[in-house]
Amino acid sequence: MRMATRTDTPSPALSVADSHELIRVQGARVNNLEDVSVEIPKRRLTVFTGVSGSGKSSLVFGTIAAESQRLINETYSAFVQGFMPTLARPEVDLLDGLTTAILVDQERMGADVRSNVFDEPTAGMHPHDVQRMNGLLHRLRDKGNTVLVVEHEPETIAIADHVVDLGPGAGAAGGTVCFEGTVEGLRASGTTTGRHLDDRAAINGTVRTPTGALEIRSATTHNLCDVDVDIPLGVLVVITGVAGSGKSSLVHGSIPAGAGVVSIDQSAIRGSRRSNPATYTGLLEPIRKAFAKANGVKPALFSANSEGACPNCNGTGVIYTDLAMMAGVATTCEECEGKRFEASVLDYHLGGRDISEVLAMSVTEAKEFFGTGEAHTPGAHAILDRLADVGLGYLSLGQPLTTLSGGERQRVKLATQMAEKGGVYVLDEPTTGLHLADVEQLLGLLDRLVDSGKSVIVIEHHQAVMARADWIIDLGPGAGHDGGRIVFEGTPADIVAARSTLTGEHLAAYIGT
Ligand SMILES: Nc1ncnc2c1ncn2[C@@H]1O[C@H](COP(=O)(O)OP(=O)(O)OP(=O)(O)O)[C@@H](O)[C@H]1O
Ligand SMILES: [Mg+2]
Ligand SMILES: [Zn+2]
Repeated sequence: MRMATRTDTPSPALSVADSHELIRVQGARVNNLEDVSVEIPKRRLTVFTGVSGSGKSSLVFGTIAAESQRLINETYSAFVQGFMPTLARPEVDLLDGLTTAILVDQERMGADVRSNVFDEPTAGMHPHDVQRMNGLLHRLRDKGNTVLVVEHEPETIAIADHVVDLGPGAGAAGGTVCFEGTVEGLRASGTTTGRHLDDRAAINGTVRTPTGALEIRSATTHNLCDVDVDIPLGVLVVITGVAGSGKSSLVHGSIPAGAGVVSIDQSAIRGSRRSNPATYTGLLEPIRKAFAKANGVKPALFSANSEGACPNCNGTGVIYTDLAMMAGVATTCEECEGKRFEASVLDYHLGGRDISEVLAMSVTEAKEFFGTGEAHTPGAHAILDRLADVGLGYLSLGQPLTTLSGGERQRVKLATQMAEKGGVYVLDEPTTGLHLADVEQLLGLLDRLVDSGKSVIVIEHHQAVMARADWIIDLGPGAGHDGGRIVFEGTPADIVAARSTLTGEHLAAYIGT
């Protein structure tokens, strides 16, 4: 979870509306939002929930925060405004009662215009840290603040005064309000979030037998205190411990890198406006080759980054009227109608489709298209399989990376790095920003990796992942100088039975023993 504190003063134009008790949003249509109308109580803690890609950030940051920033900018003199970016009004019919609000997002804030975006790694939260965070949220509210939180942790949802649940699905299958009300109401609502709220993963009672061990001796990276530990191989190992206890130092600093170790970290994914899931994952390569072969022309024609690009928009599909401000007004390119390719390129077909039609397909559609028949392309199919495996079957191949939601970006990266060949996979907090339903899917993926003979080592705070581990290595007891030691090694059942560490205590409480 990450925090952005807004300290703006309400504009004079807003002070009348401020006397009301609600922030009212009517007809929001930003990104995938389908005419969303909600009322958010002021001076309360409201938590926005929903699966990854459901539209939470589009509502909280893309609509509410964006509009309040725009209104604040309008209160400056014309002279000052000349030096500020012109913000487009978000697509929303009515937004009133805007007030000073504190907005909290669980992930880095993407395209959010106010944040200082991409600069610190997300610090995942141990259940112990979540408790402290909850205390802070309550104190902020009790001081009279309106607190808006985007969060998946059931422990945080549980303390909300008001919940807005978006969905029901992701992308085009999301974007509507499925539930508004109390946590009790959410539980009874039958929405995906409501149904998963009380999920308690059972402790893994049939742990796998290791095939060997990775021996770490006298590790002293950062705060590690001369750590000796054997990390079992051929099983699912979860490394736990409060924030700052030394988990990343152990895993990234002490596991010998190189042959056979694939390390999937938390760094943000990089990409320009022209990058999309097809270019980022390497999927475009086999697709371009298949198009070239079928038509007897060069592969480079089928890339909107090179020869085949529409000359008017340079392959971006949009024309920015204000180049100084990328978040400014973008209009669809008239030349290619947003298809991004030069017209002549679209005369070439594969399996009856042109390249822009292929890039408009969802992962699921493309999987079928490249799976059989004239367009059969095994190289493309393998990459599409991995994207579907991480739960992104609905995502379209050509959607700009800059517009993906936090959890979507995280999983596109995961699917891409999973393709690297190796025997040991190291994942740093792969559940960051994922809904409980998305976590289930990820756990299935990790289990399949181990069952296929790989070793998987995961740094995790998510208790469902801890519960499913074959082996837990717990670092602590505290953070920084108070951490850096192994405080527990064993099975999930053992750590719960022992309750000798913070992780053990919390896991025991979580599974309800
Ligand atoms: N310009 C765009 N074109 C098409 N789809 C878009 C565009 N911008 C956003 N989307 C889609 O809208 C959906 C909602 O995005 P949003 O960032 O609001 O999700 P979220 O609920 O915050 O998800 P997460 O929990 O992963 O952060 C996503 O599927 C995203 O890919
Ligand atoms: Mg989001
Ligand atoms: Zn164009």
